[in-house]
Amino acid sequence: MAPGEAPARSFVVVVLAVNALSAIVAVAGTKKALSTVDVEDELDAARAAIRRAARQHHRRGGGGEGGDVGSANWLRFYGGEADYDLLSRVYRNPAAFYRSYVEMERRFKVYVYEEGEPPILHEGPCKNIYTIEGRFIEQLELMSPPDDGGGVRTWDPTRAHAFFLLLSVSQMVKFVYRPPSQDRAPLRAIVADYVRVVAARHPFWNRSAGADHFMLSCHDWGPYASRGQPELYTNAIRALCNANTSEGFRPGKDVRRP
Ligand SMILES: *[C@@H]1O[C@H](CO)[C@@H](O)[C@H](O)[C@H]1NC(C)=O
Ligand SMILES: *[C@@H]1O[C@H](CO)[C@@H](O)[C@H](O)[C@H]1NC(C)=O
Repeated sequence: MAPGEAPARSFVVVVLAVNALSAIVAVAGTKKALSTVDVEDELDAARAAIRRAARQHHRRGGGGEGGDVGSANWLRFYGGEADYDLLSRVYRNPAAFYRSYVEMERRFKVYVYEEGEPPILHEGPCKNIYTIEGRFIEQLELMSPPDDGGGVRTWDPTRAHAFFLLLSVSQMVKFVYRPPSQDRAPLRAIVADYVRVVAARHPFWNRSAGADHFMLSCHDWGPYASRGQPELYTNAIRALCNANTSEGFRPGKDVRRP
């Protein structure tokens, strides 16, 4: 993310940046049944561009003195004054990472399911603790520019690379959980039911067994709630603040949230 960029847009984008393109590229490569040609072509073009950038980086002798790389776009992306050696230590291939980011900004589209009613779905806390759940929903669902307005949201699911499951675990805890019972079964039941509904009404969940779908939760019980639907737990991308591997966080597909 470039410093000083508008927070609303970058907020959504950064959450997805790390996993999104690679996960979706992998999924789209294996499950073609319903994809439109456009999405496949787009992903092909993105992959090719990232590979080209990666090769360029290697040709320029990545890890070396820098030299003419100093004028490359991707180096400016990291702040202009970026220390090339330091970048190479943080990123396996900073040029490829930059290209992947550019391709994501240009192409990446998220479809937001409309099923469900507030307050448990389509709504989350926007103040104090767990705010990210509410803010993310608000920015993606309520504040997105219209289709083709340059935003990340699309209203056309055939153009989507990822599908957002609009649930807020902290809302479930607030409205469904009865303290001090410690009984979290109702949370799992809601998650299972929600996924059952979107899988029955749309072809997209079954197409990928959930692998191009994502949820976001900042509540400690987020990982637990996601177990309510086995495919959500094992296949879908879970953006979690509780990113403990002891709680089932899988770094290869899940995303850590601050
Ligand atoms: C997806 O699979 C589930 C479980 O097998 C099934 O109940 C549902 O009808 C399927 N959805 C569609 C759209 O075919
Ligand atoms: C995360 O893991 C640590 C170490 O196993 C444990 O002490 C802590 O309670 C866990 N936190 C959550 C939120 O699960």
